[in-house]
Amino acid sequence: MPTLRMEGVTFRAGGSVLLHEASLAFRSGELTAVIGPSGCGKSTLLKCLTTTHRPAGGRVTLDGKDVWEMRGPYRLALGYVPQDDVIHPQLTVAEAFEFSSGLRLDTDLPPADVRRRIGSTAAALGLAAAKDRRIRRLSGGQRKRVNIGIELLAEPQVLILDEPASGLDPGTEEDLVKLLSCLARGGRTVVTTTHSMEYLAAFDRIVMLAAGWVVFCGTRPELLAHFGVAHEAEVFKAVRAKPAESWAALYRRSPLAAQALRN
Ligand SMILES: Nc1ncnc2c1ncn2[C@@H]1O[C@H](COP(=O)(O)OP(=O)(O)OP(=O)(O)O)[C@@H](O)[C@H]1O
Ligand SMILES: [Mg+2]
Repeated sequence: MPTLRMEGVTFRAGGSVLLHEASLAFRSGELTAVIGPSGCGKSTLLKCLTTTHRPAGGRVTLDGKDVWEMRGPYRLALGYVPQDDVIHPQLTVAEAFEFSSGLRLDTDLPPADVRRRIGSTAAALGLAAAKDRRIRRLSGGQRKRVNIGIELLAEPQVLILDEPASGLDPGTEEDLVKLLSCLARGGRTVVTTTHSMEYLAAFDRIVMLAAGWVVFCGTRPELLAHFGVAHEAEVFKAVRAKPAESWAALYRRSPLAAQALRN
């Protein structure tokens, strides 16, 4: 089973360390949430995973191979939905999907198969009725789903999403988490950042960052137990009570850290 791994990944920019020696394993078939306060390094961690950022130290591997050394094929196996939308707002949904399939899909795929794949992806994301609308006229949630859809067309082995649920109402957000969970169950490695603590139970694994340090990795019950709180809403407050570095040291000494790296 392919596992995406970070081994002691450090990233620096503008004279400061934005990510401190992060060691984590993201397994296929699992959905991981990356959480933490604004500015703690969530997007930075994802950018290290996607080869957008080159770490100053440590390495990222897929199946034991350094992703920087096989950057071309790795990027083909990867779907990345960044925090800011990247598709042209003047295109219609159908045009955006066609454009993306032209870029990302195997040219040997018969046009009928391409159309079928576009249709089923749009339907899975609840976009079938909006397919002829221009992207600039869509709601924030619909636009986010188009961004996810254009990555899903290529059926990536690894799917990485940065705040896909921002701006969604709670019902739509819950649907999105279920969709991501389904995609993971299908054998993909899915990693997403989220601001919302509401659906943590739906994630196989939660990674928490504070000030660029990994302060936790485990399940929701383990999260509550580790920070000694009754509810996830209290986790950030508990983390603020001590320096991030000391939480990171506590985490590294705990059995959770070893468990997070096991295959
Ligand atoms: N290129 C850069 N140079 C210097 N500092 C940066 C750079 N990019 C981000 N930062 C800083 O690094 C820290 C982490 O940023 P990052 O975008 O990873 O946070 P985040 O957890 O994704 O925040 P948010 O929840 O607001 O999206 C922030 O303090 C940010 O200001
Ligand atoms: Mg971010």
